[in-house]
Parts: sequence; structure tokens; C-alpha cells
Amino acid sequence: MSEYRKWCLILCVLGGANCCVSTMPNSYDTIVVGLGSAGVTAASTLAKAGRRVLGLEAQDRIGGRVKTVPFGDGVVEVGAEWIHGTVGSRVYQTAIKNNVTVLPQDLSFQVFMSDGTVGNKELVNELIEYCLQVVEHPPEKPEALGTFITRKFMAYINEKHPKLLDDKDFITEFLEMMNLFINNYEASNDWNDVSAQTNYEELGGHQHTSWHRHGYKTFFDLLLNTYNNGPGLPTLDIKLNKEVTLIKWPKNSTGNVQVICKDGEAYTANNVIVTVSLGVLKERHSHLFLPSLPQEKITIIQKMSIGVMDKVILNFEKQWLPNGTFFGFIWKGEDKKKLSKDDYWTTRIFGVSTPMGSRTALTFWTSGDVGKMVETLPEDVVKRKTMELLRKFMGKNMTIPEPTDMIRSTWFSNPFTRGSYTYDNLLVHDYPNARATLGEPLVDSTGVPKVLFAGEATDLTHFSTVHGASDSGYREAMRLLPSSKI
Ligand SMILES: Cc1cc2nc3c(=O)[nH]c(=O)nc-3n(C[C@H](O)[C@H](O)[C@H](O)COP(=O)(O)OP(=O)(O)OC[C@H]3O[C@@H](n4cnc5c(N)ncnc54)[C@H](O)[C@@H]3O)c2cc1C
Ligand SMILES: *[C@@H]1O[C@H](CO)[C@@H](O)[C@H](O)[C@H]1NC(C)=O
Ligand SMILES: *[C@@H]1O[C@H](CO)[C@@H](O)[C@H](O)[C@H]1NC(C)=O
Ligand SMILES: *[C@@H]1O[C@H](CO)[C@@H](O)[C@H](O)[C@H]1NC(C)=O
Ligand SMILES: *[C@@H]1O[C@H](CO)[C@@H](O)[C@H](O)[C@H]1NC(C)=O
Repeated sequence: MSEYRKWCLILCVLGGANCCVSTMPNSYDTIVVGLGSAGVTAASTLAKAGRRVLGLEAQDRIGGRVKTVPFGDGVVEVGAEWIHGTVGSRVYQTAIKNNVTVLPQDLSFQVFMSDGTVGNKELVNELIEYCLQVVEHPPEKPEALGTFITRKFMAYINEKHPKLLDDKDFITEFLEMMNLFINNYEASNDWNDVSAQTNYEELGGHQHTSWHRHGYKTFFDLLLNTYNNGPGLPTLDIKLNKEVTLIKWPKNSTGNVQVICKDGEAYTANNVIVTVSLGVLKERHSHLFLPSLPQEKITIIQKMSIGVMDKVILNFEKQWLPNGTFFGFIWKGEDKKKLSKDDYWTTRIFGVSTPMGSRTALTFWTSGDVGKMVETLPEDVVKRKTMELLRKFMGKNMTIPEPTDMIRSTWFSNPFTRGSYTYDNLLVHDYPNARATLGEPLVDSTGVPKVLFAGEATDLTHFSTVHGASDSGYREAMRLLPSSKI
């Protein structure tokens, strides 16, 4: 018996409830497509308000772009790693309310140079900090982010460190590293693909709070009431390995929505919330909806950008670096020139970090086109080249052991993500309402929302994050609930 039927039976036995009478098999109030941060928040919010909800997830696990896996002597995050800001964060609040300890992580850099020397940590961190805070005060006219940061940076150097102006090589090398840094933040291929005039807003509080040994996946267990073997939510059915291939919705008419899966199963509901990534929408929108999406939404899906940020994670027999530490790599121009073309991609790894959840693991950070390429390289090549890189930068004073194990993310190759997260590209000026348009529901002939859209990309100010995705799921759940049910 399904959880739902069990619950119905109990309600009916208790008397009065007519819930079971109206129930057809495979029929729900709401179907949620995709069980990442947006989908799980939407589904759990509706289920807690008593709605009969079906969650359909194509992959064999809940979490989407949050992916905690056992690795080394603990767990590592193949996807999202930190809670970015705490004030008003649904993610942070969920942890705190449930007494789950989350830990702030210091993300300042230890700096290593490509000739194996130690870089000027104080100076580099000061300059990075400056560049990052400049981003929060966008220019008045449209400008590419790299151009904007470089302009501000040069003025700052001029004023604060005029002697550095003589060291042209350092300035170039620092800015190249900063470009990579920004690409890891934005999932962009180049910082000049990103607009300086983004609508992104940072939440207050610490920017890098870690779920450490609990793993980010705990967020979903807490929402779904499955933490510590909790019983789940009685009116929520979850089906994994259920790829949705068609959503039929009433456009000129009224009635139910029908959702059809790859295995042929069909489910009906009053409405459906679609939470698949922008990458998946780009690839599938023309087959996924019947009738197809309005042209306005299609244009936005085509114009917006989702980029790539990927991790390569090595494990070692023993811990040999302090946990929770970031090591930034700065390439010297002459060292870069010595590299063969085949090894160019290693210059686009901007550093390594030791995760908070596993003391023996080490994460390499990459992004953009190189990230996509690394997803497809043979495993032994990735392992060998990342180790060469590590020894080049950090091997002078340290004997670096051989890794025992490797995992890497494949956020672009994965057909159910097709990218890591969205950023505001240079078209943001021409399509200022893009994210709102993407999130607009499709309504039936009487104006009732039938197909609703949530997900990271639809959040106006907190896109590209787990908390933004969660907020978007909550937003769409609330669209379906009378305010008395909050
Ligand atoms: C490497 C990496 C690092 C990141 N680091 C951070 C970080 O430190 N902090 C932070 O806040 N954010 C970070 N993010 C971003 C964050 O992970 C995402 O913004 C957020 O998790 C997106 O949630 P979502 O619900 O919008 O989408 P998703 O998590 O992608 O959920 C959508 C779900 O839909 C499913 N799906 C797709 N197609 C179908 C289909 N046809 N049928 C059924 N199901 C389908 C997918 O499998 C997926 O589970 C990171 C992301 C990546 C990739
Ligand atoms: C969290 O801890 C407080 C204080 O110990 C307690 O009152 C509360 O019930 C706990 N909450 C949960 C969800 O465990
Ligand atoms: C190596 O060790 C020496 C002596 O402790 C120190 O001066 C130097 O900065 C170290 N170099 C690196 C690359 O760690
Ligand atoms: C829906 O309505 C529009 C105009 O109101 C009409 O052109 C179209 O043919 C209708 N489509 C269907 C499937 O009925
Ligand atoms: C490293 O791990 C230990 C034990 O897991 C923990 O107590 C400590 O706070 C961690 N240090 C950092 C910097 O994260």
C-alpha cells in the first residue's frame, strides 16, 4: 500500500474525511517534476499543507545539483558546497531549527605560484577581496564584468599600491587568476561573458557555511521529514528514476494536467510544478510541453545562460593538508608558455581546497569550456595531470602522496542538469525581466495556473544558489495555497 493510501485509510477510518472517495489512482493535487532544492521545497510545503503531491525525479536520488557522496574518511560535495549567507536563508534556517550544526569556513587563500614559491598571501587576499566587493556596486552603464573589475582594480592599485604598477607581469597574472575565480563563482567561461549589472543579491551573514560531515543532502532529509529515519510526509509520494517526457496542459480549455514518463506511466493532477534546470529546458522544451511554450518564454530560455563549474576530487590514504583550507594557484606567464597545448586546461584550474566533510580529500576547481572538456577526458589523464599540477605548485617543500581514488562532477554531460547554474550574461540589459518571464505560470482558459515553474534560474535575486532555488519552490507552492494554509 502506498504511503498516501495508508494515510487515506486512516483518515477514512477516523471518519468524515471524503479524501479517498475522490481519489483515482495516479491522480494528485500537484505533480512536482524534479526533486532538487526547488522541487523538494515545493513538494514538502504543499504536502505539509495537506495537499496530495507526487514528486517525479529522473535520477536515482533526491538532491539534483546538491550531491553529497561518501568519499575518503567522510563525505564530499560534488555539487553545492556552502550556504551562501545566513540572514533570511531558508537553507540555514532549516539547519538551525532542527539543531543541525553547520560550520563557517574561512575561504581566504594560501597562495602558491607556478614556480613552486609561496605567493604574497596578504596582498593577494586583499586584492581578491577588493575585486569581490567592487562587484556589489555595479556600474551605471552596461559593462562586462571583467572590464569593470579591471578598471576598478587598476584605480585601486594606483591609489593603494602604486609600486605594483611597475610589476606588469604580476598584474596580468593576478587578473588571469581573478578571471578564473570569477568563472568559478559565475560558472562562466570568461568574466567578460558576465554582466557587471547583475541583479544578484548576497544574503547577509557568513558567505561560506558548510554542512561538513552531515553533508548538504541533510537539507532534503530535514524538509522531507526523513532525517534520523523520520517517517516522511504522509501525502507525498516520491518516485525516483522517473524521467518526465511530456507535460500536457489545458491551454484553450480547463481541466487536469497530464504528465507522461519515459517508461509510459501517466499521472494526472490539478497542476504541475516544473523545476528542471535552464539547461534541460534549453534542450527539451520543444518536446516537453503540449501545447508548446509561449514564444516569449522560449525566447528567454534561449537568451539566458547556464554555465559550467566542475570539481575533480582526489582522495589520499591519510590527511596531509589542514581541512577546510583553500589554496589559490597563480600562473607565471613564462611557466604557462612552457606548457604543451594538451596541458593548457590545467592552467584553468584556479586552485584546490580541502573539504570540511572529509579530511583525506582534495578538490580541484574548474569551470567553463575547460570544465566541459575535463568531464570527457579519460580518468587516468585527469588524475595524472592534476597531480602534476599539484606538485608544480605545492610540491617544493612537501612530499605529496599518490591519490587512492578520484571522483569528478559531470554537470554538463548529465542530461538532467546540462550545466551547473545560471549567470546574468550581457543580454540582461535587453531582457531585464528574463527571470520573471521564465518563472511565469502557464494558465488555462480561465486564467488558473496549470504549469508552474520554479528552480534556481527563476529567482530574481538569488539565482545560482541552493537558497534561491528553495525560495523559488516555496514561491510556487504558495501560489497554489490559500494564504490561510501557510
Ligand atoms: C558544482 C556546483 C557547485 C555549487 N556550489 C554551490 C554552493 O556552494 N552554494 C549554493 O548555494 N549553490 C551552489 N550551487 C548551485 C546550486 O546547487 C543550484 O543552484 C541548486 O541546487 C539548483 O536547484 P534546483 O532545484 O533549481 O535544480 P536541480 O537541483 O537541478 O533540480 C532539478 C531536478 O530535476 C531533475 N530532472 C531534470 N530533468 C528531468 C525530467 N525530464 N524528469 C524528471 N526529473 C528531471 C533533475 O535530475 C534534478 O534533480 C552549485 C552548483 C554546482 C553544480
Ligand atoms: C533543538 O534544541 C532545543 C534546545 O535544546 C530544543 O528545545 C528543541 O526541541 C530542539 N529542536 C529539535 C527540532 O530537535
Ligand atoms: C620552504 O621552506 C623554507 C624553509 O622553511 C621556506 O623559507 C620557504 O618559504 C618554503 N617554500 C615553500 C614553497 O613552501
Ligand atoms: C486556441 O485558441 C486560439 C485563439 O483563441 C486558436 O487560434 C487555436 O486554434 C486554439 N487551439 C486549440 C488547440 O483549440
Ligand atoms: C577539521 O576537522 C576536525 C575534525 O573533523 C574539526 O574539529 C575541525 O574544526 C576542522 N577544521 C577546520 C578548519 O575545518
